[in-house]
Amino acid sequence: MRSPYIKSKKAFSLFLNYSQQLDFQNSLLLAENLIHILQTTLKKSRNLIILEPGIGYGRIAIPLAIKGAPFNFQIYGFDNSPYMLEELTKRINNLPVQLRAQISGRLFFRQLAAESEWPYPEKFFDVVILSYILHYLKDWQIFLDKCDSHSKGCIVFLKEISPFNYWLNGDFSLIPSNAPHQVLYEFWHYFYKLKESYAEKGENQEITPIAYQPAIHYLAFQKGYHVSTYQVDLPLTRRLKFSELLSWIRYGAFVPLRESINRQARTLLAHRMKEWLLQRGISPKETLVMKGGTYEICICHKT
Ligand SMILES: C[S@@+](CC[C@H](N)C(=O)[O-])C[C@H]1O[C@@H](n2cnc3c(N)ncnc32)[C@H](O)[C@@H]1O
Repeated sequence: MRSPYIKSKKAFSLFLNYSQQLDFQNSLLLAENLIHILQTTLKKSRNLIILEPGIGYGRIAIPLAIKGAPFNFQIYGFDNSPYMLEELTKRINNLPVQLRAQISGRLFFRQLAAESEWPYPEKFFDVVILSYILHYLKDWQIFLDKCDSHSKGCIVFLKEISPFNYWLNGDFSLIPSNAPHQVLYEFWHYFYKLKESYAEKGENQEITPIAYQPAIHYLAFQKGYHVSTYQVDLPLTRRLKFSELLSWIRYGAFVPLRESINRQARTLLAHRMKEWLLQRGISPKETLVMKGGTYEICICHKT
């Protein structure tokens, strides 16, 4: 199964460029909170074995391995993108020696497509963590069935619910009306209108990115999981250049867009967006600095 990143190195590097702006310290804080919640929920503080399908470059897994080391946690992960795994290896190698030693023998990963057979025993993992992977998968129910059968009954959904990501997810109703998000909001709204017009012409073959709600609903009502939700505030600061956003659009780094319209249409869209910005006196070189980030940790747990 192809990964959205395998085919385009350009899209991959754009994605990394953006993601590098997410602060490592924030991820450590998120990991700390997550560990505490898991220990409380599972009533088990040591020796947790955790799987992260679609581990990426280890944004979640590396901090989890570091913060879980004192509790003898083991983190497993897989990804079907060799670029992501290369980057993961690079990031581990770039860690300070002490941290590298701390996670040595605790973080295992391999190249594997979620759709393939998983090389782990049934009920092997205490926890399966899902962070921004579900929307890539066509058969998300089959995938969740696999998570269910390979875990001892704890599946965690991580997602950022700060305005910035609401905007990326196209959930306009949740975006506050204050600047600078309002600019992004209008921008995105414009994009969606255009996208709809492509859809009317029959150009939209979108694999609807599934939100977490149907997945959580599925686990709760089909599989008997209990659901609890926690929020963690992180002192994130992000910078986003409009020009970067235009490049994402052009090269399809933003996956739902890549799935829905072709390269030519994306180039046109980026061009129109640039015009739209200029008409409003916004230079594409302008950088938005967004402060504050909130993560939602949704624990689905079979008691
Ligand atoms: C948005 S990234 C999220 C990475 C990580 N979970 C995080 O939160 O930072 C999605 C990851 O899923 C991987 N992926 C997408 N489709 C996949 C599939 N079918 N099988 C395995 N990995 C996949 C991508 O290569 C990418 O690394």
